[in-house]
Amino acid sequence: MQTRTLGAHGPRTSALGLGCMGMSALYGPADRAESVATVHAALDAGVTLLDTGDFYGMGHNELLIGEALRTAPAAAREQALLSVKFGALRTVEGGFLGVDGRPAAVQNFAAYSLQRLGTDHIDIYRMARLDPDVPVEETVGAVAELVQAGHVRHIGLSEVGADTIRRAAATAPVSDLQIEYSLISREIEEEILPFCRELGIGVTAYGVLSRGLISGNWSAERDLPAGDFRSRSPRFSRGNLEHNLGLVETLREIAKGKGVTVAQLAIAWVLAQDPHIVPLVGARTRERLAESLSAAAVTLDDGDLRAIESAVPAGSAAGERYPAEQMALLDSEKRSRSDT
Ligand SMILES: NC(=O)c1ccc[n+]([C@@H]2O[C@H](COP(=O)([O-])OP(=O)(O)OC[C@H]3O[C@@H](n4cnc5c(N)ncnc54)[C@H](OP(=O)(O)O)[C@@H]3O)[C@@H](O)[C@H]2O)c1
Repeated sequence: MQTRTLGAHGPRTSALGLGCMGMSALYGPADRAESVATVHAALDAGVTLLDTGDFYGMGHNELLIGEALRTAPAAAREQALLSVKFGALRTVEGGFLGVDGRPAAVQNFAAYSLQRLGTDHIDIYRMARLDPDVPVEETVGAVAELVQAGHVRHIGLSEVGADTIRRAAATAPVSDLQIEYSLISREIEEEILPFCRELGIGVTAYGVLSRGLISGNWSAERDLPAGDFRSRSPRFSRGNLEHNLGLVETLREIAKGKGVTVAQLAIAWVLAQDPHIVPLVGARTRERLAESLSAAAVTLDDGDLRAIESAVPAGSAAGERYPAEQMALLDSEKRSRSDT
């Protein structure tokens, strides 16, 4: 597996990271043994970056990763870098109550995460969503104190816009911004990505397959279990879904021509956009993982990139990337929203 550096201040990681969220939340039931085997297979293939959140399954995901690391060969375990998100408040039933970015809460979240993960440090620690009631300097300052104390190695950000990135980076060195970026989610190209480049901040891109929509395996007939995020996602709603799957068919032709799958083409496209972007692949089975990781070996030349651009131009997807109430929580969407 090739490696990349996450910006000027971040760690060197595998070019693709493993996003573990779907093993515990949002995409319906997952098989625990297969999830652990998928983490092991990723480490074995040279993936060093594992991404999680303390709220994914209310600690379930961290416990799962802890188990996978405990049962992995020592060499793989030592190379693994853990990227952890915090801040979301949950109910017993799994509902979301909001976010808490107060310094005391940051200390508390970290204490529990370290126990669940079974580690003495977190490699990249980031607030999942900006707390509108707490200045970002206070939240990032609290993570910087954890860095000082040796509990955290690097400070990351998630789904925040340029103003917040600037304020955070003025408080302490920031390794990377985690944000949705894919062929059909290109909002960051206008302001956020150039700004990250300017400040030497890397990007861990999530949703590179748009949650399975542009994986080449989605169909309009697929039933979604209760609680599956996609049953509420505008991009998967009737009408929008058919349009978006039409875009996937244009990608399929290009993928066929290159002898790769649609998922590999979509992941390779994100890799090709910038050497400081590390796409997170959301695989939860070894089969999906193997397909996704092969994307790291796919080279796209200028002709390929032009063909992809004309098949799926920026802004061609139908529907927003989150339901309206979740879009409202995204600091990263604020500028474009106030412009409209
Ligand atoms: N910072 C944030 O706000 C934020 C938000 C969301 C996610 N994340 C992080 O980013 C990670 C990745 O996000 P994601 O899981 O939503 O993104 P994704 O990779 O776009 O989507 C995952 C979906 O794609 C399917 N898939 C994966 N590999 C495939 C392949 N090779 N072929 C066909 N389908 C494939 C999976 O299928 P199956 O259903 O078959 O497993 C799953 O349904 C998460 O795990 C999480 O760690 C961060």
